[in-house]
Amino acid sequence: MPGDDDPLHVAVIIGSTRVGRVCDTLGGWFAARARRREDLSVEVLDLAGYTFPACYPDESTPSMRHFTAAVGGSDAFVVVTPEYNRSFPAPLKQAIDFAYDEWQAKPVGIVAYGSGSCGHYAVEQLRTVFSALHAVTMRDWVGLDLLGAGVDECGRPRDTDDLLRAVAALLDQLTWWGRTLREGRRRQPYAS
Ligand SMILES: Cc1cc2nc3c(=O)[nH]c(=O)nc-3n(C[C@H](O)[C@H](O)[C@H](O)COP(=O)(O)O)c2cc1C
Repeated sequence: MPGDDDPLHVAVIIGSTRVGRVCDTLGGWFAARARRREDLSVEVLDLAGYTFPACYPDESTPSMRHFTAAVGGSDAFVVVTPEYNRSFPAPLKQAIDFAYDEWQAKPVGIVAYGSGSCGHYAVEQLRTVFSALHAVTMRDWVGLDLLGAGVDECGRPRDTDDLLRAVAALLDQLTWWGRTLREGRRRQPYAS
């Protein structure tokens, strides 16, 4: 079991599985920024890399168990998600629903984007979902408009001062909550 001073294990979840998606580019960019911090150990969970069942099965499949084990082994999460019709993509909801206890008493940061919006609706819907799972979403989030000047034609964000400040705020909050909740979970079982 890691000690209080050990790096926080952060899972960056790539929330779009769409063919031709930009989510992997954005998620890779964010993970690289997060890896600059010595207090974090960053793992990328790409939902496109799992073969999840189309229908929720009676018994969990190996891919479901693989994903929930990765969630259970993480101290904190950053969900990278596009906005789809004022929400977030269905494959992301499917994956979130595969786990329950594994999310509890852990912090969730959000990097959202859209075309014409910065993914605000996706963020608010994720807040509702994660509160049902006893996870806590960070107040500050990173929002990107793919049609704006802050993102290049490949979907890679330009590292402006404003953007890097937003990334730092999200990671600072995630780290505070992550360390505090990791210690809290060690001291006593969560009262779910
Ligand atoms: C089904 C669908 C719905 C979308 N709805 C929105 C939306 O509500 N607001 C928005 O700003 N962009 C919307 N978009 C544009 C996406 O943000 C854009 O296509 C983005 O590249 C999707 O992320 P992805 O490429 O990682 O899948 C939508 C795209 C799709 C495919």
